[in-house]
Amino acid sequence: YQIYSTMQNPDPDRFPVILEEWEELARKKLADGPYYYIAGGAGSEKTMQANLKAFTNREVIPRMLRNVDQRDLSVDLFGQKYPFPILQAPIGVQSIIHEEGEIGSALASAEMGVPYIASSASSVPMEKIAEAMGDAPRWFQLYWSRDPEIAASFLKRAENSGYSAIVVTLDTPMMAWREYDLKNVYLPFLAGEGVGNYFTDPAFLSKLEKSPQEDPQAAVMHWTKVFGNTSLTWDDIDFLREHTNLPIILKGILHESDAKLAVEKGVDGIIVSNHGGRQVDGAVGALDALPKVVEAVGDKVPVLMDSGIRRGSDIIKAMALGAKAVLVGRPLMYGLAVAGQKGVKEVMQNMLADLDITLGLTGQSSVSQLDPSLLREME
Ligand code: FNR
Repeated sequence: YQIYSTMQNPDPDRFPVILEEWEELARKKLADGPYYYIAGGAGSEKTMQANLKAFTNREVIPRMLRNVDQRDLSVDLFGQKYPFPILQAPIGVQSIIHEEGEIGSALASAEMGVPYIASSASSVPMEKIAEAMGDAPRWFQLYWSRDPEIAASFLKRAENSGYSAIVVTLDTPMMAWREYDLKNVYLPFLAGEGVGNYFTDPAFLSKLEKSPQEDPQAAVMHWTKVFGNTSLTWDDIDFLREHTNLPIILKGILHESDAKLAVEKGVDGIIVSNHGGRQVDGAVGALDALPKVVEAVGDKVPVLMDSGIRRGSDIIKAMALGAKAVLVGRPLMYGLAVAGQKGVKEVMQNMLADLDITLGLTGQSSVSQLDPSLLREME
């Protein structure tokens, strides 16, 4: 009711409430290149559509008369309690959207107590993000370099700068076929954006003949060689364990067989994700993939999910199907594009207020106690 009571004297310049209006404002503000880099997906964007459709295809059947006075949005993950069941998805190159870049989005997370997952492809070195965030919760996302020394160095740096978990993104050993970016001839990295972690990494720098300041182009070209690794197999997971004591969470799992392999390999968590529809065109919607992964994993490790979370009810649906928490990507980037840190915070607050209200209206008191009986799947 705090929300409705502040509506008596609406400020005409106030931020939008409707999420789609944030995207419209971002569209107006950004040039084609950066806008489509954020908003676009792989190929014909069928996966992006499938992500949203998977939520539409499941409907909530609310329960009544269940005393929802006290509602609990908190979750426990890897031995930590967090106030809300969302995390900020790792997103690289944020300086193309707003001058505050990753520092703006990280500070919004810190204000809200929402864990921030810093991308390997951040425009800003992970140490700078850590410094700005102080004690606020943060995880580090690894793009697993072809050069093992760089991968190991990233893991060490993350540990040294207070990141409490490692998210290893498996679905991006190379950039996908993204038609808008090809049409717009727009790849931020080639302009030196999103290489902040590489250009400050001692292992990366040791491979260059000249410093990135002296020869930025050569540094970028070296980055294109070492960024991803298409030769990785499940046996390589041991490498991660040898190089970090932090919880290891695999992001980009969609197939139940991979979920089983992940558990066999002893990882600590799984994120069901298709990278927001940016990698494989025609892939399964992430929410559609979730139930089988949850079934395969049982309660051995927590399963999180992302790709398509837009409203409070989406969080409820994902958690009813077994996700322990969800990651939010593009909505927060539209907030960043429009108003930096303030915009990210506003979009987050709206989503969480929506979640709190909708949870109560469905007759539920706790996000961590939702189960599939709350949902119906449409034929
Ligand atoms: C991403 N994503 C991503 N994932 C990752 O592991 N490392 C990264 O650097 C990036 N970079 C990135 C840039 C942009 C512009 C977008 C939109 C996405 C994927 C991200 O973490 C997440 O999986 C999706 O964004 C979730 O889907 P929604 O919420 O955007 O639908």
